[in-house]
Parts: sequence; structure tokens; C-alpha cells
Amino acid sequence: MELNALKKVLFLGDPGIDDSLAIIYGLLHPDIDIVGIVTGYGNVTQEQATNNAAYLLQIAGREDIPIINGAKIPLSGEFITYYPEIHGQEGLGPIRPPETIKANVKPFCEIFEVIKRYKGELIIVDTGRSTSLATAFILEKELMKSVKGYYIMGGGFFVPGNVTPVAEANFHGDAIASNLVMQYAEHVTLIPLNVTNEAIITPHTVTYIAKNTKTNFNKLIEPIFNYYYVAYKKLNPKIGGSPIHDVLTMMAVVNPSLVEYVYRRVQVDVGGLAKGESIADFRPQPSAEAMKNWIRIGWKLHYKQFLEDFIRIMT
Ligand code: BDR
Ligand code: CA
Repeated sequence: MELNALKKVLFLGDPGIDDSLAIIYGLLHPDIDIVGIVTGYGNVTQEQATNNAAYLLQIAGREDIPIINGAKIPLSGEFITYYPEIHGQEGLGPIRPPETIKANVKPFCEIFEVIKRYKGELIIVDTGRSTSLATAFILEKELMKSVKGYYIMGGGFFVPGNVTPVAEANFHGDAIASNLVMQYAEHVTLIPLNVTNEAIITPHTVTYIAKNTKTNFNKLIEPIFNYYYVAYKKLNPKIGGSPIHDVLTMMAVVNPSLVEYVYRRVQVDVGGLAKGESIADFRPQPSAEAMKNWIRIGWKLHYKQFLEDFIRIMT
């Protein structure tokens, strides 16, 4: 186990199964203090994402954590594709949050208040489409420099995409926004598909967690994982479990040696056949540009450490 100071985390996401698991992991982790959740469109609509986040906070008894309204549509104005076949009709697999759920929702500008409140110590974790984060840069580019670090799930290197042959869903959903964030954000850790695809939780592990967990989330774990696994099996019949992309991104904040990294500038293709593709220069002699504005890119996952940490926190 690695010792960490308490991390103040502003979470942006589109819950969504793995976003929800990332929120659950963050709420349960003794070294993470979630200080706000910004809900955006993506896996589901922004409104459904908000309801799901509110439901998780209610289960945890943490309604004190503000939910902040994020983006409802991408910067490009393109029509949105949602993913009920992977995340369920409402984003939590077979589970529907009760209709009585009331979210303590704040307007978008609350993001800036949170950043000011935790100036110099705030970590932003973004596991959704990049629109909300890009909008924050568009409005308050200088203030965004006082964020201590950004952990972003997106892109993929030397692996196929998951929504097109070359693009990962978060970068494809609003490629203009993702590219903007990759150019403007400082102290970025990118957790791409080439590592998150390896962050697999098998049905065996799910059964173990469901049996042994002492957390308030015990009733959710098995149904949402089962739904997610069936969905991934359809995409890849050989897969042995479900990849928890967004949890790994949250985990990386408090586990510095969980992932090995490389350092390169990252750009995102914004149009045409390759829209959403993440590009970095990995030639043996990369251009000088490739080493400027570099981003810390997740390269290799230490699986045993990942699995042990996930089981420990979830139980
Ligand atoms: C990403 O896309 C979404 O479907 C997941 O929640 C994750 O953030 C993986 O490509
Ligand atoms: Ca997500």
C-alpha cells in the first residue's frame, strides 16, 4: 500500500457504469475527498448522468457533495450517440434510480468556485466527453492553471479504438474539446485505452466483492457488473471480464506506481475518418515539437496491484 495525503478531487463524468464505479471508488477511498461532481452528456444524457450521480451520493449518505451541471451537447454541435447497450437504458445497467431522487445541483460556474476554494491542491478527474472541461478553459484559461493536476480518461495508443477503428469514445464524442484540453491543460495524466483495456474485472472477482463488501453499495455491484460484462462479451466474445476504464483513472490519482508512463505531446484528430484519434510522435527520433507541452501518458498497467487495490477499496 502507498501512503498518500488526502486528495481533493473534482470529478467530471457521464455516469455511466464505469463512471459510477469511479465515483463509488472515490467515495470509499480514505485518501480521496470528492469535492464536486460535474455531470455531462456522453454514455447517457446529462440529465440521466445527474440523476445517477445523485443516487450514488444518496446511497453513500453524501448529499453534501455538490453536483454541477456540465455540458449537454458537444462543441461541434454534432448529434450525440448514447450507449444504452453498454451502460443500460439509464446508465446504471439494469438499475433505475428512484424517481424521488433530488439532486443538489449547482450551475456550471460553480466549477470556478471549487477551483478557487482549493487553489493549488485540486485534482480534476475527467472520465467523460471533454466538453465541460474545454468550456472551463474557454471561459477561464488562467484560473485553470491553478489546478494541481488533471487525470483524463481518453484516447488510445497502438490499440484499436472502441467506437471507430481508430477512436476512443471520450475523444470521439467531442474531438474538438479533447484536442483543446490536450493543448491547454498543464500537468495532465492521460489514461488511455491501451492501459484501461487491461483493467479487467472478472465475474469471479465481482462475486467475491459482492459477497464480502461491507459498503452501502453492496446491492449495486453484482447487477451493474453483470450487465456490463454481457455488453462487453457481445463486443468481444473472448474477453474475460469488463474493463473499468474510469475507475483506473481515479485509481491512478492515489496510486503513483500503478501505471508506467511515457511523455509526449498529444493531439486529437478533429474531423473526417480519423475523428477522435489520439496522436503522439513515437518515432525513434520524435520531432522537437513532440516533446513540448508533453502529457504523461499511461503505458503499462501493473495488473496485480490494480486488482488488489480495487478489491480492498470495494470491500
Ligand atoms: C470511455 O467511454 C465511456 O463509455 C466510458 O465511460 C469511458 O469513460 C471508454 O472509452
Ligand atoms: Ca465515462
